[in-house]
Amino acid sequence: MEKIRTKEEYDLLCQKIWHYNTLYYSKNRSDIPDEEFDALLKNLEKVEHEHPEWVSPNSPTQRVGESLTIGFKTVKHAHPMLSLANTYSKEEVEDFFERIKKLTGRENSSFSCELKMDGIAVSLIYEKGDFKQGVTRGDGKQGDDITVNLKTIRNLPLKLYGAQVPEILELRGEVFMTHASFQRLNKQRESEGEDLFQNPRNAAGGTLKLLDPKQAAHRDLSIIFYGLQDGLRLGIRTQTEIHDYLNQLGLPTLELTKSAQTIDEVWAFAEEVRLKRNSLPFDIDGIVIKLDDLKEQAKLGATNKTPRWAVAYKFQAEKATTELLDITLQVGRTGILTPVAELAPVFLAGSTIARATLHNEDEVMRKDIRIGDLVLIEKGGDVIPKVVASIPESRKSGSKRWQMPEFCPSCGSSLERVPGEVAIRCPNISGCPAQSLRRLTHFVGKGGMDIASLGVKAIIQLLEKGFIKTPSDIYQLTKKEVAELEGFKEKSIQNLLSGIEASKEVSLDRFLHALGIKHVGLGTAELLSKKAGSLEALQEMTFEDLYKIDGVGEKVASSVFEFFNDPKNRNEINKLLAVGVSPSFQKPQGFENHSFKGKTFVLTGSLDKYTRDNAAKLIKERGGVVSSSISKKTHYLLAGKEAGSKLDKAKDLGVTILSEEEFDSYL
Ligand code: IVH
Repeated sequence: MEKIRTKEEYDLLCQKIWHYNTLYYSKNRSDIPDEEFDALLKNLEKVEHEHPEWVSPNSPTQRVGESLTIGFKTVKHAHPMLSLANTYSKEEVEDFFERIKKLTGRENSSFSCELKMDGIAVSLIYEKGDFKQGVTRGDGKQGDDITVNLKTIRNLPLKLYGAQVPEILELRGEVFMTHASFQRLNKQRESEGEDLFQNPRNAAGGTLKLLDPKQAAHRDLSIIFYGLQDGLRLGIRTQTEIHDYLNQLGLPTLELTKSAQTIDEVWAFAEEVRLKRNSLPFDIDGIVIKLDDLKEQAKLGATNKTPRWAVAYKFQAEKATTELLDITLQVGRTGILTPVAELAPVFLAGSTIARATLHNEDEVMRKDIRIGDLVLIEKGGDVIPKVVASIPESRKSGSKRWQMPEFCPSCGSSLERVPGEVAIRCPNISGCPAQSLRRLTHFVGKGGMDIASLGVKAIIQLLEKGFIKTPSDIYQLTKKEVAELEGFKEKSIQNLLSGIEASKEVSLDRFLHALGIKHVGLGTAELLSKKAGSLEALQEMTFEDLYKIDGVGEKVASSVFEFFNDPKNRNEINKLLAVGVSPSFQKPQGFENHSFKGKTFVLTGSLDKYTRDNAAKLIKERGGVVSSSISKKTHYLLAGKEAGSKLDKAKDLGVTILSEEEFDSYL
C-alpha cells in the first residue's frame, strides 16, 4: 500500500477514489477490482486518522452511507419489483373484492391469504439450482446487489436440488430479523456503547447494507419466500401452488397461509392472524390477499407501482394512552444518558408497560413531550414500546417543556454533549456510582468474567459500603466484608468467594469483553483475542497493527488502541493480573491438526494481516521455529509483499514458499 506523506498525495488519493467511484456508479464501469478499490479507501481512512487536519468535507469517506454504497453494484431487475396497495378497513378490502369481480368478469374467485412480513423485500436468482444473485428492491427498477450478505443467512439454501429445479428461478421474498435475534443484537450494541436499532426491520435493513459480510453473519438474519416469476412457464397455476412448489424445493416459506373465496373468510383469517400476531417470533404488519389464479393475475396486470390482483390489509399498530409520570435518566456504562419515560402502567399487546425509552434529548424536544402529559404509546407487534406523541388536548396548564438536566442524576457532575452526536454524557468516568455499577455488572456478566453469584443487588451494596470501586477490588473482597451483605449466610458467602476465585481462569476473549472497551462486543473480542494471541501482544499493538486486522475498522482500532494506552486502564489491568486473574488465549478446536512442530520458518516482505512479531508468535505457538536466515534446512518461507533477496534464495534452494493467504489457511 502506497504510503501517503503529504497533503498533495492525500488530495491525489481522494481524486483517484472519486474517479473510480464515478466510473462505477455513473458509467457502470469497474476499472479496478473491488478489493483494490476497498484497499484505496482503507488507505484513505488510515491517512485521515493520522492527519485529521487534512480531511476535506469532499473526501470520499465523508459520503460513505446513503449515496455512496461502496461495494454494492446497482443491478437492474429483470422484472420490476412491485409494491402493494394498502387497505386499512374491511370496507376497503370489500372494494378490492368488487374490483376483482369487475376486472375478471367472474362472480367467484379464489384468493391466497398470507402474512405480510415486516422486513426488507429482496429478489433472488438461482441458476441451475445455484444461488447466484440477490438484489434489494431499490426504486423497483434497480436495486443494490447484496449477494454476499444474503449468503450469510442461515436458512437460505445456496443450492437447490431435485428434478423440478429450473434453469433460472427468480424469486421474491422478505429478509427479516426474529425478535430473539433483534434483542440479542441490541443487547450487544448496548454493551458496546452503540446506538440501538429501533425495530427489527431497521436492523435487517442496516444489516443488508453492511459492507463487511462477516459482520452481517453475526447479525443472524432470516429469509422467507412468497413469490416467483414465470410460474405459468414452470407449470404452476396458482399462488397456492407457488407456496407448495417453493416448499418442495426446500426454500423457507410463509407459515400461515389460507385459501379463501369470500370476504368473510378473508376477514376470519385477518382476525386469526391478529390474535396470533404477538406470539409470532417475528414482526408482521398485516396480511396480503392475492388473487390465486396466475393466468388471471397476468390478465389483470399492474399499474406502474402495484399489481391489480393483490392488496395488503395493514394492521394498525396497537396503541394505548397513559400518563407520563416522569422522565428519568439512565446512565450507561460509558456515561451516555438515555431519557426514559416512566408511565402509569398500561396493558398493551400482551404485556403491561410502565417504562419506554425516549432515545435521546432531541427526540423528547422534537416531540415536545412533557411530564404530566397523556402520551400515546405504540407497540407495532414488535418488542419495544415507544412513546409516539403527547396528546395536546390533555396538557395541563402551566406545564413546562422538558429540559435535559445539567447534572448527572447519579454523581452530580456537569453533563457534556458528545461532540458531533446527539448523546449527552456524564464525564465522571471513575467517580460516578451509576457508571461504576453498570461497568461492574458488565464485568461480572455472562459474556465477561461470569461470576453468577455476584448479582446487581450485591454489587450495589458493595459499592455503597465502599468495599469495591473497580473490578480488581472484587478479587480483594474478604469473608468479613461479604458477610455484611444483606441475605448472605455461610453458604452463600462461600459460593460468592469461590465463584470469584474460579473466574480468575478466563479466556482472553471474555476478559477483553469484560473490560468494556467501547465498540468491542463478544464477536470483536474473539477476533482480537485470536489475532493477538495474548493480552501482552494486544496491549503492544499500534493503531496500524489493529487496523490491519480483517474485520477491524477505524472505530474499533482507535477505541482499542486508546483504551490500552490510557494509564488508568493499564493500571487496572495490572491490578487484575496481580490478584491472579489470568486471561489465556484458548486455541480453537481442530488446532492440533495444524501443527508446525519441527518446521523451520523464515519470514520476509510485509504482511497485511500480521506484524512480523505476531506471525512469528503464531508459528511458535504451533511448535514451529523461526529463523532469520534461509538455508537448505528451512522448511517454509512466509513471503509477504515486496519480498526481496530471501525469496530468490528460497527459490534457488527449493524451499516451499507460502503466501500470506496460504499461511492463514494453515492456522
Ligand atoms: S407480494 C407484486 N407477499 O410488502 C407483489 N409482499 O407493501 C409483491 N411483503 O414490497 C409483493 N409480505 O416487501 C408480498 N406475503 C407477501 C409479503 C409481501 C411482505 C412486503 C414486500 C412488498 C411490501 C409491499
